[in-house]
Amino acid sequence: MDSPKTTRTEKLPYGIASVGLGETERQVPVDEPPPLAPNAALNVIGKPVARQDGRAKVTGATRFTVDVHLPDMLHARILRSPLPHARIRSVDFSAALRRPGVRAAMIVARPEDPVTATVRYVGAPVAAIAADSISAAEEALRLIRVDYQTLPFVVDMDRAREPNAPQIYDAASAPEGSPSGYPARRGLPLAGNVRGPAMDTLGDVAQGFAQADVLVESEYRTRVQTHCCLEPHAIVANWRAEDLTVYMSTQFTAGVRHELAQAFGLPLSRVRVIVDAMGGGFGSKSSLGNYGRIAVELSRKAKAPVRLVLTRAEEQMDSGNRPATWQRLRLGARHDGTLTAISLLSYGTAGVTLGAGVGNFAQALYRCPNFESAQYDVFTNAGPGCAMRAPGNTPGAWGMEQAIDELAERLSIDPLLLRDRNDPSAVRREERRIGAERIGWLRRRPPGADPGPVKRGLGMAQSIWGTNVQLNSSCEVRVLRDGSVEVLSSVQDIGTGISTVLAQVVAEVLGLRPDSIKVRIGDTEFPSGPPSYGSRTTASITPPARTAAWSVLQKLLREAAVPLKAAPTELIAQDGLIMVRDQPARSMHFAEVTALLRTDQISAQASRSDDYSGFRRHMGDAAIAHQDLGGVQFAEVAVDTETGRIHVERVVAVQDCGRPINPRQIESQVHGGVLMGLSYALLEERVLDQVTGRMVNPNLEQYKLAGPCEIPNIEVVLLENYQGNSATDAYGIAEPSNIATAAAIANAVYNAIGVRLHATPMTPAAVLAALGRISPRGEQA
Ligand code: MOS
Repeated sequence: MDSPKTTRTEKLPYGIASVGLGETERQVPVDEPPPLAPNAALNVIGKPVARQDGRAKVTGATRFTVDVHLPDMLHARILRSPLPHARIRSVDFSAALRRPGVRAAMIVARPEDPVTATVRYVGAPVAAIAADSISAAEEALRLIRVDYQTLPFVVDMDRAREPNAPQIYDAASAPEGSPSGYPARRGLPLAGNVRGPAMDTLGDVAQGFAQADVLVESEYRTRVQTHCCLEPHAIVANWRAEDLTVYMSTQFTAGVRHELAQAFGLPLSRVRVIVDAMGGGFGSKSSLGNYGRIAVELSRKAKAPVRLVLTRAEEQMDSGNRPATWQRLRLGARHDGTLTAISLLSYGTAGVTLGAGVGNFAQALYRCPNFESAQYDVFTNAGPGCAMRAPGNTPGAWGMEQAIDELAERLSIDPLLLRDRNDPSAVRREERRIGAERIGWLRRRPPGADPGPVKRGLGMAQSIWGTNVQLNSSCEVRVLRDGSVEVLSSVQDIGTGISTVLAQVVAEVLGLRPDSIKVRIGDTEFPSGPPSYGSRTTASITPPARTAAWSVLQKLLREAAVPLKAAPTELIAQDGLIMVRDQPARSMHFAEVTALLRTDQISAQASRSDDYSGFRRHMGDAAIAHQDLGGVQFAEVAVDTETGRIHVERVVAVQDCGRPINPRQIESQVHGGVLMGLSYALLEERVLDQVTGRMVNPNLEQYKLAGPCEIPNIEVVLLENYQGNSATDAYGIAEPSNIATAAAIANAVYNAIGVRLHATPMTPAAVLAALGRISPRGEQA
């Protein structure tokens, strides 16, 4: 007996639209819709549809987590360590508990518990209070008596590497693996504060360098960047006898639900996580976090809802950050530019945690037969790093893409031609071509060519990112008797507009307008959706949305077949009608068909299937497709050699993300990626005081972010790059759009002034020091 057939053969669009489209043959699961035509042939997908939540956002109607107010809700505040390294001998609550309005208290750093009794950074949670008001909670914090035994500390990565540096962990207490970021490997040796190396090798590097005609060796540094989400970390926890409901600004409702169930010993069915809207996350809101546990625990103790919103100082000190790195890159190449060897050594610090490597960027971007990398994590007494927009790759690109430009100069080869020679990606080749034309690359002159004090330059850099997919991603589509349509999934909108994207996908299938589709997301009462991280949301949830909409449409077509006197297979949904194909006269309005339903609603649920071409790699719930995402950015800068100020005048970002679903939203996201990269390149730096271990700029005043004066003219060019991989063939853009910017600006700065800056941020003082006009400490030279 034959086994039931589970797939059918289909031809799907394939290739880069601006180069020329072809087709690819794939095995498609039988319960998935027919291939989706290229965007040019579609009505809603690929169109710059306005955001569904735009009006609510600009009028203030949107409910963010900080706007959730429950009856009898309490307010929590956290007592944080003022010391960078200390053992907690005792915590005395008695006075705090006597203060009127205090309803619950808890110790986070418990003296009797060897794991939590030591605080290792300024800002580490020690205790927490829930009270009737924020001010009552804050006053109560001041009444808590903590007996600290101070311990020696080190906040500087280079000093932490020295043999006699104060030790942050012993082998037994050091964290293992990495919650996020790179390298995530377990079981690496720890010597002092230095853990590693995580090694990668390919071919024979010594032989590769021996074959090289030229050699470039250079060191690069990146400083800690904090996420600075517009909306702070926030939670309202409501523990009741029957269940736990948590409103939280989170990138992963379904994941936080699992974390809560495990942490508090509850069945999943009794845990609900809700987020209506978010003001960004960038990796820092991926999990429950210490503040989340604290709010839930306080709610349990107080038997009342508890609201906890981090202050900007808490955000800066203890909500994660992009780790600092030091990198040494050596590149070997033949006279014609062909790479023969790449070697990378890196040390990075994520403070008290791991994940401060620079990823596989240097290995993955170019074809080179001989490669070796050794990456080390260094523990310091500083707040924990965590994933931040293209973890590893953004600092990795800062080093590698500047080193490639150094190699181009040494070889007297145009940086674009050197990349043409070594970069195997067809999509980046096309992106280089388009971007060079847009920015006017032919205007580019030798470094430092401008005679006056303000010198202009052009530079570019590239990115690579995986086509990530969350397999555990589900979506339901309901059609109601009155013709209205609902899309339901726990997937959350981090702020980039996935609800509008889902409406577009479902509207395309049902022949309706996207604004008529009601999208209900951000609630674990609905089918489990993917996280909003790893640039995987669109790739994960749009295929099941299309499949579910298509399944429910088949039911509807069967209803319509009787009155339209046609076979269901002859019917299509278009322009708000169900009609016989090519016979618009034989049609019914969508709502006329739904009025015939026997039940109040029909519905279908679908989950993410494997990419049609399979996967290159699986990682738990997630997988990476065979193809990678590209992205090439060009920058034009003006550097004032008298003040040291770098002004980025223009950025051209040429990006791909498979099939673009909403070009307007994608452009907006690319703008964000570029701005974050520009800010990283020029301004952002967490400054820790070596004497006290404190962050001296835990705010948005001395911690500089790009503002209106720094914003360049940003031009976004989107490529359609069809891969024939899923029911929508769409991928994410969040992280790719951030990777190349800082390096592109640095390469443009070199082209302007003929001096290379190796460290972020490229402040006016750093520029003047590089030009020899002041000493590195800031005095006049
Ligand atoms: Mo991102 S760093 O995967 O939110």
